[in-house]
Amino acid sequence: MSFSHRHLLGIEHLAPTDIVTILDLADTYAELNRRPNKHSDALAGLTQINMFFENSTRTQASFELAGKRLGADVMNMSMQTSSVKKGETLIDTAMTLNAMHPDLLVVRHPSSGAVDLLAQKVNCAVLNAGDGKHEHPTQALLDALTIRRAKGRLHRLNVAICGDIAHSRVARSNILLLGKMENRIRLIGPPTLMPSGIGEFGVEVYEDMNEGLKDVDVVMMLRLQKERMDGGFIPSEREYYHRYGLDAEKLAKAAPDAIVMHPGPMNRGVEIDGTIADDINRSVIQDQVEMGVAVRMAAMDLLARNLRERSAA
Ligand code: CP
Repeated sequence: MSFSHRHLLGIEHLAPTDIVTILDLADTYAELNRRPNKHSDALAGLTQINMFFENSTRTQASFELAGKRLGADVMNMSMQTSSVKKGETLIDTAMTLNAMHPDLLVVRHPSSGAVDLLAQKVNCAVLNAGDGKHEHPTQALLDALTIRRAKGRLHRLNVAICGDIAHSRVARSNILLLGKMENRIRLIGPPTLMPSGIGEFGVEVYEDMNEGLKDVDVVMMLRLQKERMDGGFIPSEREYYHRYGLDAEKLAKAAPDAIVMHPGPMNRGVEIDGTIADDINRSVIQDQVEMGVAVRMAAMDLLARNLRERSAA
């Protein structure tokens, strides 16, 4: 298997072959995760520390489960009760943990670039579990695996990413990944939620959902990232839902077999109608959660193989 990276910090550092390597291994872990005995010893003897400086349900739970299923010793740092609350810096916290010889450090942080900075200071492999508006690489990888399993391929698809693009690390990582795999990407949202210079990413930009969703194969909805907004970006949630919320009428513009995705957490009645989110014939939202565990197992397994090779050399 060819995957030579020391860390998983962003999709921007990955080649298409790296992406395929992770997804192929994740497919085997997806099968393992459906068996009664889900245990493997790929990470046996290794220590994994999860440091989440921002709230998380899916990412933290799936990294923890992934590490435990692979036999790692997993520790979840509670940032609410850590010395960060007494003013300790991110780097001092990381250096303190580094002295305890972890092998894998999983980090979520509200500041873009914080995880890259931390990776330069520690000896272990670092996985970015989402940093500010920058990247969320394992989310894009689990989305890619979900699309590949649902559509049978991960190239030459028309993918619409809809909503709050400007504040979304999920959008950024997905634009990078889907672009590397030669898909056609449409971004749909109000101009106030579209980042400046987005045209340089080789995407098509739409303001109108009915126009942008026409014949797409994949509809990826995004949450309004209110915690990253410092002003009024939309007139009201009611108006936003009317224009950009995915309902049956707007979804009818997409291809008849288009799948509906959402990274979660979802705001029903804001960016998506609850009936669409729960429609097992169209929505793959629960598959995304399932693939999240498999992708994180694959990513940590590959990084651990490189760690072991380096320490044996
Ligand atoms: N998709 C995602 O990152 O969800 P959490 O914030 O719950 O981890």
